[in-house]
Amino acid sequence: MEQAGLWIFFVTTCVISEVNGQRVEMDDGKSGYVGSKVDLRCRFINSNPPVKISQVTWQKLANGSKQNVAIANPSLGVSVAPPYRDRVTFKNAAVRRRTPTLEDTTIVFSSLRLSDEATYICEYTTFPAGNRENTVNLTVYVRPTTQMSLSTPTLVARSSNLKTPVATCISANGKPPGTIRWETRVPGEVTTREYINSDGTFTVQSDYILVPSRETHRETLTCVTTYNEEVYTDSVTLDIQYEPNVMIDGFDGNWYLNRENVQLSCQADANPVVSLYQWRLVNNSIPSNVEIRDNVLLFKGPITYEVQGTYVCDATNSIGTSSAFVEVSVLEKPLPQIATGDVISVIALLLAAGVLMGITITVLVLKIRTRKDSSLGDSPSRKLSQPIRKRPDDIQHAGRFYEELPNTADYVSYRLACNKEDYPEPYSPPINPPLSFLPQQPYHPSQTMPVLGTSSASTPSKNTFAPPTHTTAVFKYPSVPGLSSPPPGVGPYTFPKEQYV
Ligand SMILES: *[C@@H]1O[C@H](CO)[C@@H](O)[C@H](O)[C@H]1NC(C)=O
Ligand SMILES: *[C@@H]1O[C@H](CO)[C@@H](O)[C@H](O)[C@H]1NC(C)=O
Ligand SMILES: *[C@@H]1O[C@H](CO)[C@@H](O)[C@H](O)[C@H]1NC(C)=O
Repeated sequence: MEQAGLWIFFVTTCVISEVNGQRVEMDDGKSGYVGSKVDLRCRFINSNPPVKISQVTWQKLANGSKQNVAIANPSLGVSVAPPYRDRVTFKNAAVRRRTPTLEDTTIVFSSLRLSDEATYICEYTTFPAGNRENTVNLTVYVRPTTQMSLSTPTLVARSSNLKTPVATCISANGKPPGTIRWETRVPGEVTTREYINSDGTFTVQSDYILVPSRETHRETLTCVTTYNEEVYTDSVTLDIQYEPNVMIDGFDGNWYLNRENVQLSCQADANPVVSLYQWRLVNNSIPSNVEIRDNVLLFKGPITYEVQGTYVCDATNSIGTSSAFVEVSVLEKPLPQIATGDVISVIALLLAAGVLMGITITVLVLKIRTRKDSSLGDSPSRKLSQPIRKRPDDIQHAGRFYEELPNTADYVSYRLACNKEDYPEPYSPPINPPLSFLPQQPYHPSQTMPVLGTSSASTPSKNTFAPPTHTTAVFKYPSVPGLSSPPPGVGPYTFPKEQYV
């Protein structure tokens, strides 16, 4: 409580002394653009009873020294220092009267210059109170000039793919400096530098850097300059020269004997435009019935086999030459014409059939697996023994088909197609390892053996579960005894080897 009371006392004392005393009132800060006009406000708040104003002096504080700008004196009148005579006036007419009032000595600064930026002092000399003064900082702005340009009027896309500054945006002689950013679809890099000029202004330069290419031709770069919340935009369009990009139109793969009115056309995208098209036939001269019309080759009259060959078109502009070729072959008869609609419906049908088939197969496989799992359990011996038991039966009914369909999916789709679902459960052909046993030798007559033997030896993993050694043993058996003479065609040195194994 005591402290609060003390504090209130101090504040009140201060305010009262302020009101009763004299002070010079000025703005906190002032700014203006070069060339513009600005008021530097200065008011003397007098006391009661008022003190007498002897003189008012405006001074510029620069480099630590004071320089007079203007003086108002009740008896001597008004005086503006020579450097400011044209540009500085007292705003209030009462200051210039014969018996002036000097309470408001605001000055008007016109045609601002950069050098006017300084601290200005407004000093009141009074009697008997002495001097009272205040200061204001004047800041002078310069709006930069914005300039945007292409680095060179035209750029050339080179195969070296070197990055090049393609456009430059400059915000020159601004104070404070402007900021630059870019808006464009073209990917690139930006480098921005800022320079301080001798007059205290700033120049900002920003370059847009990219690899000139065919793709960037005619792209727009926009430079956005911001200065004191004012935004300027300026755009340039890239003009990039590139060698021709060539392709040949006209060959539809259906040039048949005696077809008429066919032509090849050389299409080039180039900047500048192609100045020369040249046609040639590789390792040959262009047939006489083929007329060259700039970028078009006209095949006059019915086509013969003579026009076959590789046609090359060379397109040249000032940047370079590029080529394209087409291999023309002549058919004996036209290709069957299929309407596009038909093709689409056929494809759709095939797709639908494929999807249906896939779904059915998946369902079937799952079904069979579930059945097998529930009926057989996990015993591997049973899984292996089962197919061997039933195989003779199957071969009787469908032996041919087993040899032709070596994998599970094919087998299942066969079953689907032939309605074999009504097989009694124990006979339902197993899916996984059992099928691989099928082409084994014991159930076949001896004349099929060599075929199976070779196939199993070359691709052991495909159809044969048995190890290759087993197959070899079966083959060698008849000749092992060695009691009778070896069969013709079998080398004698293999016998001891086999026996020692
Ligand atoms: C301040 O000093 C600079 C050089 O240091 C001079 O160019 C300039 O004119 C001076 N300004 C004033 C108001 O004297
Ligand atoms: C005016 O400028 C002076 C020197 O440039 C600086 O020290 C001072 O703080 C400024 N006053 C205001 C009110 O900005
Ligand atoms: C053109 O002839 C050269 C040799 O004479 C041969 O190497 C080349 O394969 C031929 N080209 C064609 C497209 O026939």
